[in-house]
Amino acid sequence: MSDYKLAVLAGDGIGPEVMVEAKKVLAAVSNKFDLKFELNEYDVGGIAIDNHGQALPPATLKGCEDADAILFGSIGGPKWDNLPLEQRPERAALLALRGHFDLFSNLRPAKIYKGLENFSPLRADIAAKGFDVLVVRELTSGIYFGQPKGLEGEGEEEFAFDTMRYTRAEIRRIAISAFEAAQKRNKKVTSVDKANVLVCSRLWREVTEEVAQDYPEVELEHIYIDNAAMQLIRDPSQYDVMLCSNLFGDIISDECAMITGSMGLLPSASINSDGYGMYEPAGGSAPDIAGKGIANPIAQILSLSMLLRFSLNEVAAADAIDTAVTKTLSDGILTGELLTPENRDQAKSTSQVGDYVASLIA
Ligand code: NAD
Ligand code: IPM
Ligand code: MN
Repeated sequence: MSDYKLAVLAGDGIGPEVMVEAKKVLAAVSNKFDLKFELNEYDVGGIAIDNHGQALPPATLKGCEDADAILFGSIGGPKWDNLPLEQRPERAALLALRGHFDLFSNLRPAKIYKGLENFSPLRADIAAKGFDVLVVRELTSGIYFGQPKGLEGEGEEEFAFDTMRYTRAEIRRIAISAFEAAQKRNKKVTSVDKANVLVCSRLWREVTEEVAQDYPEVELEHIYIDNAAMQLIRDPSQYDVMLCSNLFGDIISDECAMITGSMGLLPSASINSDGYGMYEPAGGSAPDIAGKGIANPIAQILSLSMLLRFSLNEVAAADAIDTAVTKTLSDGILTGELLTPENRDQAKSTSQVGDYVASLIA
């Protein structure tokens, strides 16, 4: 009998490469903590289009429904970029899964590790002040999901439209996620919006203020998205939890990843109100480096840690992974994108990094 059943959806590009490493780490924690996992692998994204004619085949969805949680790699790539939007892997599989399971609360923790400030492309004195931010991104509404969207008209009069739409309830539940998280961290929520222009942002501010009343010990500040993008480079140490709508959180989280040194370091958890979740690197399928064995597997490995912590409550196993990752990085077991060009000959491969993390746990 297994303790847990996981749906493993590796996807496209570097997805399968980094997933191999997460599975090594899962095997190590499974041994160490005497946990039994049943892993069921399913096609998703471009590979599923190639093999089954659709990005999210019914068997994949059913497998996810039957699982305790989903470990997701990444999807998409040039091969499928010219399909109609609604058939593309990003929309037909990733957004479809987020919507289907109502995974509204997307947590993306980014930090500069102590002693590893040199990974950051920021000026040394700025990086030295530290950076430890949790981006809380609304994931199932806003301009990604708002209706109507479409393309109408002809010639130069042809026009495209997307709808940004938020209900009070949608804003409230993601704001609560942010305040709950802040209460366990440094007690500050920075809500990112464009309230000087967007009606959605006006409502966002109003509801966020209401939620703040229930968390008197947490400080709330509002900031416009353009200023936030700038402040993150000027002094990222000023932030704790950054609460964002769907599109703004997408953009800000890539920026946060790069402040720490690499897209390949940022994990994510996408959780619904029952605690069911999908866990995936915040970055994509990285077609530019896929197939070379050089992708950083840390974001995938840390996504596994978040799965254990948030969906399975296996805190000791999650802590062991986090500790092993920190030691791997500080021992200098690094993929090339974290190194300066002069040091790149010391780069380790995807599998060397995964082996090292797994060996530290064993
Ligand atoms: P990307 O995140 O795939 O890559 C951006 C840059 O970051 C690239 O230079 C890439 O090499 C680098 N990078 C990303 N992950 C890395 C890792 N683990 N190690 C080292 N470097 C890493 O973004 P993109 O190029 O805009 O998108 C490529 C494809 O991925 C597109 O089809 C996009 O829609 C899709 N995508 C999917 C997801 C997902 O599945 N969750 C997320 C983002 C983008
Ligand atoms: C992410 C990705 C996705 C998003 C894309 C692939 C649809 O960029 O998870 O950040 O925009 O949410
Ligand atoms: Mn993104």
